[in-house]
Amino acid sequence: MKISFAKPALPITGVAVVTATAGAKLSASGQKLDKKSGGALTRAIKASRFEGNKAHNLNVMAPAGTRLDRVLIVGLGKVKDVNELEMQKLGGRIYANTQRVKKGSVTVAIDAVTDAKMNTQEMAAQIAYGARLRSYRFDKYKTKQKESEKPSIKSITVQCAGFATARTRFAGLSKIADGVFFTRDLVSEPANIIYPDSLAKKAKSLEKLGVKVEVLTEARMRKLGMGALLGVGQGSERESRMVVMQWNGGPKKTAEKSKGKTKAEGPIAFVGKGVTFDTGGISIKPSAGMEDMKWDMGGAGVVIGLMKALAGRKAKVNAVGVVGLVENMPSGTAQRPGDIVTSMSGQTIEVLNTDAEGRLVLADALWYCNERFKPKFMVNLATLTGAIIVALADQYAGLFSNNDRLSERLSKAGAEVEEQLWRMPLTSAFDKMINSDAADMKNIGGRGGGSITAAQFLQRFVGKTPWAHLDIAGVTWSKKDSPTIPKGGTAFGVRLLDRLVSNNYEGK
Ligand code: BES
Ligand code: MN
Ligand code: ZN
Repeated sequence: MKISFAKPALPITGVAVVTATAGAKLSASGQKLDKKSGGALTRAIKASRFEGNKAHNLNVMAPAGTRLDRVLIVGLGKVKDVNELEMQKLGGRIYANTQRVKKGSVTVAIDAVTDAKMNTQEMAAQIAYGARLRSYRFDKYKTKQKESEKPSIKSITVQCAGFATARTRFAGLSKIADGVFFTRDLVSEPANIIYPDSLAKKAKSLEKLGVKVEVLTEARMRKLGMGALLGVGQGSERESRMVVMQWNGGPKKTAEKSKGKTKAEGPIAFVGKGVTFDTGGISIKPSAGMEDMKWDMGGAGVVIGLMKALAGRKAKVNAVGVVGLVENMPSGTAQRPGDIVTSMSGQTIEVLNTDAEGRLVLADALWYCNERFKPKFMVNLATLTGAIIVALADQYAGLFSNNDRLSERLSKAGAEVEEQLWRMPLTSAFDKMINSDAADMKNIGGRGGGSITAAQFLQRFVGKTPWAHLDIAGVTWSKKDSPTIPKGGTAFGVRLLDRLVSNNYEGK
């Protein structure tokens, strides 16, 4: 679907979308169309219960006196409801309501709303962004879809005064959407298509945007001593991988004097769990619902999509993305419960449950990232525990951190893009729960606090670096449509972390 911007002009054909505010007050464009149609819009409003509330809309079919197929009147609600998130949702709803238009073209007329916090160009750009986000589809394997089952919409033209400004603004937002779509594609692909090496190749494709991408093979990881990650992958026919992505859009590393020694400014770093399929290994999962474990690489998918967004919009930041890619399978070569592995950090781990594999992968990925890059901070994302779904359902991702400032910045960014985080505790009492009799630690805690003991485990691999772990098990996949997120892979985290970067780490 093509999204474009144009100057205001009365739409002649196709579907026209106009706005109304609370009290069913038609916008300027709405009033013009009303006049042109001899009052068809006001009559339709009077004949209905439409009051201009947000999320409400009214269809007026083939209004007399025009050649339009339809006028869709969408509610903006109260003036105070005119904000970034509401405009995105409005755009998503406009898409959902017009995706099956007969002639393929939709014109959205955006007029200024008196006293709104937002100008017309920003409204137009956010509406277009919301429509784009909602337009995502993963249907490449549906070979028998009839034309009538597919969206027929070909183009959305958003009209507003000063449209060139809206177009420029949308171009930036669209790069974020490109990252979101890439992540959604990666998590939607099944595990026979996306496995460690093929996912690494997808990450490699970011090179054309100027991202430096390195792929570490098993042999390389063995040399580096990544026994925790390699142990998870050893039961699979598919070789494990680690991918390191670098986007250097910020200032060149400045050697800065501190206490006589020179100290370089490190990049910011994102680390992802990339279990391309999680059977549980020898501690095998029940078969019902196991297909969901194709998206156990969701954390890695978000890191890759984020790098795409940052590079796409040429963010003025130096950012590193590290993803640990493995397939967790039961087999004759698989890791056994009770095995003791040595991580790259030198710390030993007793693997009491082979289904608690994500933390083993991240242990080596976090340690490696910290050692090599000395980052300002690390944020890792992982579909780590079922327990976080018990605690927070699909409403919040769990946030665990050793740093209040980073936590606050993450929570703020999350609230701004409606990818909400809920902070969970980390304490030495929880940390003790993963002490092992046989090794430095075990990979599971006791019965309670499963998400927290998992986070405590990760914390043992980050040293003193400011760090946050986002447990995204409950928010990575959605079973129902929402205004800007069609059901399926949500890409939760891409918009959040892009916002974290733009709020705090560009040009500062
Ligand atoms: N990938 C799962 C967690 C998960 C569960 C993600 C459901 C998404 C939906 C993870 O590797 C896992 O199996 N965790 C175990 C840990 C347990 C063995 C300590 C869990 O949560 O049951
Ligand atoms: Mn598991
Ligand atoms: Zn897993």
